[in-house]
Amino acid sequence: MTSHTFAPQGPLTGTISVPGDKSISHRALMFAGLAVGQSRITGLLEGEDVLATAAAMRAFGAQIERGADGIWTVCGAGLGSLLEPKLALDMGNSGTSTRLLMGLVASHGITVTFTGDASLSGRPMRRVIDPLAQMGASFEASAGGTLPIMLRGIAPAVPITYRLPVASAQVKSAVLLAGLNTPGITRVIEPVATRDHTERMLAGFGATIEVGNENGETVISIHGDADLKPMDVTVPADPSSAAFFMVAATIVPGSDLIIRNVGLNPTRAGLLHVLRQMGADIGELNPREVGGEPVADLRVRHAQLTGIDVDPSLAPAMIDEFPVLFVAAALASGTTRTTGLDELRVKESDRLAAMATALTLAGVRVDEYDDGLTIHGRSGEPLPGTPEGASVATRLDHRIAMSMAVAGLASINGVCVDDTSPINTSFPTFMGLLDEAAA
Ligand code: S3P
Repeated sequence: MTSHTFAPQGPLTGTISVPGDKSISHRALMFAGLAVGQSRITGLLEGEDVLATAAAMRAFGAQIERGADGIWTVCGAGLGSLLEPKLALDMGNSGTSTRLLMGLVASHGITVTFTGDASLSGRPMRRVIDPLAQMGASFEASAGGTLPIMLRGIAPAVPITYRLPVASAQVKSAVLLAGLNTPGITRVIEPVATRDHTERMLAGFGATIEVGNENGETVISIHGDADLKPMDVTVPADPSSAAFFMVAATIVPGSDLIIRNVGLNPTRAGLLHVLRQMGADIGELNPREVGGEPVADLRVRHAQLTGIDVDPSLAPAMIDEFPVLFVAAALASGTTRTTGLDELRVKESDRLAAMATALTLAGVRVDEYDDGLTIHGRSGEPLPGTPEGASVATRLDHRIAMSMAVAGLASINGVCVDDTSPINTSFPTFMGLLDEAAA
C-alpha cells in the first residue's frame, strides 16, 4: 500500500491528454484477438485492467505485441478457434475483462478458471452466469456466485433472447460475445440504454449486428457463426478519466484547462450534462469523430456550482463518475441529491459507502441512503481535509482514490489516501498529469 497526501493546489492550466478509454481498449483487444489477420490499435490504455485482457487473449492464442511507437499489433486466434489456457486466468481488479471474457468462453468448447483480487472476488457474477447458462455453458462458482469460477463452454451454444434485469453494458456485451460464435441470432433487450461500444465496434470488425427499438426498449441482434475481419482502431481519451480533471478544474479557483480528444459518446456523457446543469463552464472545441466515436477537446474553467437533484435516468451514462460528482457537489452551494444508484454498491467497492465515509472524514456533511447520497455543499469553501494521522480507505478502488485526490486539491489540510496503487488499473499517468496541470 502506498499512501499519499494530496495537498491543496493552485489553478489547473494548460493542455493535457488523458489515456485511452478503458471500455474501448478492452473491446479492441478482444475483437482484434478474434479476427483473422492483423489489427493495429492506437491509443490503447496501458492500465492493469486492460493488460489483464491482453494476457487472457494471448492465453486464448492471439498474438499481441506493443511496438516501440506505442501502437499495439494483434493477430487474432480466430472466432471458434480459441485455445484452452493452461493456467487459471487472473483478472486482477477488472470486472469488464472477467464478464466479457466469460461471454466469449461460454460458446467455445474450452474450460477456463477465472480468478481475481479481493475486490473482484466479492463482485456479483450471477448476472452473467444466468444468461450464459441458458445458452448451454456450465459453471462452478464460489459461494454467492463469485470468483473463483470454473466455466465449461459449449460449442455450438444455443442462441437466446435475453432481457437485461440490470442496466449493465458488461452483461449485454457478455451475451453478445457468446452470440458471436453461436449459430442463429442472439438477442439482447435493453430496457435502459447503456454504453454501446460493443455494438459500434463489432460492426466495424465486420459482425452482422442490428440495433432496433421495440416498445421503447433497445433490441440488439447479433448473427452468430460470424467471421471477424481485422481493423485498425484508434482509441479516444477516456471520459471517465477526464472526469477527474473536469471536476478538479471546475472546483479550483483560477483554473482554465484543456483536456484533449475526450470521447463524448452520448451513453458516456452524463457527467458533462450534470456538471453544466450545476453551472460548470465546460466548452467543446473541435468536435470530430475518432474510431467511430464522437470526441472533442474540452475547455474547463473554474465555476461556482449549485447543488441539484440529479435525474436518476442519467445514471447509466455516468455510472463510473458518481464518486467524483460527489466531490464536485461538496464544493457547490446548496444540496445535491442522488437516487437510483443501487449499482454503485457492487462496483470495485461499495462506492456509496466508500464515498460517504471518505467525504465525512474530509469534513463534508453527507447523508447515505440505500440508493444514493445527499451531499451538503460548502458553497466554494475548501474542505477541512483529513485529520492528522487519518487517511481515506481506498478499498482497492481506483475511482475512490482519484476522487479523493481531487477533493484534496480543494481542501485546507490536504486529503491523505491510504493506497494510491489501484490508480494503475485505469489511469497510470494520473499523478504525473496532476502535477503537470497544477505546475
Ligand atoms: C463497463 C460497464 C460498466 C462500468 C465499467 C465498464 C464496460 O459496468 O461501470 O467500468 O466497459 O462495459 P456495468 O456493466 O456493471 O454497469
